Amino acid sequence: MEQYIIKGGNPLVGEVEIGGAKNAALGILAAAIMTDDTVRIDNLPDVQDIHVLLEAIGQIGAKVERIGRTTVLINGSEIGSISVDYEYIKKIRASYYLLGALLGKYKKAEVPLPGGCNIGSRPIDLHLKGFKALGATTRISHGAIIAQADHLKGGHIYLDTVSVGATINIMMAASMAEGRTIIENAAKEPHVVDVANFLNSMGANIKGAGTDVIRIRGVEKLHATEYSIIPDQIEAGTFMFAAAVTKGDVIVKNVIPKHLEATSAKLAEIGCQVEEFDDAVRVVATRRLTNTNVKTLPYPGYPTDMQPQIGVALSLASGTSLVTESIFENRFKYVDELVRMGADIKVEGNTAIIYGTEKLTGARVSAPDLRAGAALVIAGLAAEGITVVDDIVYIQRGYENFEEKLRSLGAEIEKVSSEKEIQKFKLRVG
Ligand code: UD1
Repeated sequence: MEQYIIKGGNPLVGEVEIGGAKNAALGILAAAIMTDDTVRIDNLPDVQDIHVLLEAIGQIGAKVERIGRTTVLINGSEIGSISVDYEYIKKIRASYYLLGALLGKYKKAEVPLPGGCNIGSRPIDLHLKGFKALGATTRISHGAIIAQADHLKGGHIYLDTVSVGATINIMMAASMAEGRTIIENAAKEPHVVDVANFLNSMGANIKGAGTDVIRIRGVEKLHATEYSIIPDQIEAGTFMFAAAVTKGDVIVKNVIPKHLEATSAKLAEIGCQVEEFDDAVRVVATRRLTNTNVKTLPYPGYPTDMQPQIGVALSLASGTSLVTESIFENRFKYVDELVRMGADIKVEGNTAIIYGTEKLTGARVSAPDLRAGAALVIAGLAAEGITVVDDIVYIQRGYENFEEKLRSLGAEIEKVSSEKEIQKFKLRVG
């Protein structure tokens, strides 16, 4: 089992290049099988979730050719099965995007029901509601969802909750349905827009992505395209907070600053200087951070995927802060770990009350999920002494070359896999 070992205390200084957005890539890779032509996708993040989805796509018969670390060619003309293996869905929930893609293209899809995830219960009722509105029947048999339709017909769908996954899944199926579909109360996240742009580049007719009403006119066929995925705003935001908690000065490059507005605004509010350029942001922190309140909301609100990172920053800020999680019920698992590092935090319902402390001290902690894991690494970078983060497989699902990028900014961090290597690191850093 691999771990990160960190010696905290170094301010992060320098420039870091952000990769492609994982959550956009997951939707785009699934959508790529909807044409029989070859699709080229660039700026793919080199992370575990993407490798797994590519394997799942290969398993149903699509041709997947990696022609570089961040470029892939996909050809879905020889898909022989509309049934996805449980092995894949178990590893990444987002394989459920193959439901919308296969249903749209072949009018039938069979995907195992995703199990619970450790950030809370994650139902897919809204995805199914959307498919039904398009004329499909959905049933569960032997643990799998089977969605099928003689004809997919456009429909009018109101999403009771703003859901990224449901919006993308319905958008994919509706792209190849007959006639017009309207999705109301749609998610507005940048990756929803990116998947819509990708589908449009394949010949789909989607309007309004990025607003809360998306209008889709179904087309019979989609065609070849070349497409470059948008930068990952969560990876970018994570580095911005790493700069903030280490009193650093970091230029985060290859980003779309507009997508980072909620994060930038909060960083400015807690005392950082945030400067925006065309495709970069610079975060400078020179003094102790100050308290604030934050509530996670759908885009353009403050992202739930950035909640643990701001939690770490506020644990070191002066004063008391309130962090309210309104999207997923179980996203405070990092709090117990952070308390072991000296943070003073009490969780009541969906709110964490954070009493800022002067310093954190290194400890052995365990990553409870992807973003919480990254937040604990940030905590380790700011803490006094040595931190070991266990279970970094979660972090590797969504951050490419995390430790290398941090090291290039001056962090003392290494990936290790034995006690011996931990001892070696300790001896080296003194
Ligand atoms: C996506 C992101 C995830 C992010 C989340 C919220 C991907 C692969 N993952 O997850 O990183 O944290 O958006 O920005 O893009 N809900 C229902 N019924 C449904 C679907 C969702 O009730 O059928 C609820 C969920 O329980 C949750 C809320 O809607 O409370 C938002 O979830 P959703 O936007 O669907 O999250 P994901 O797409 O799973």
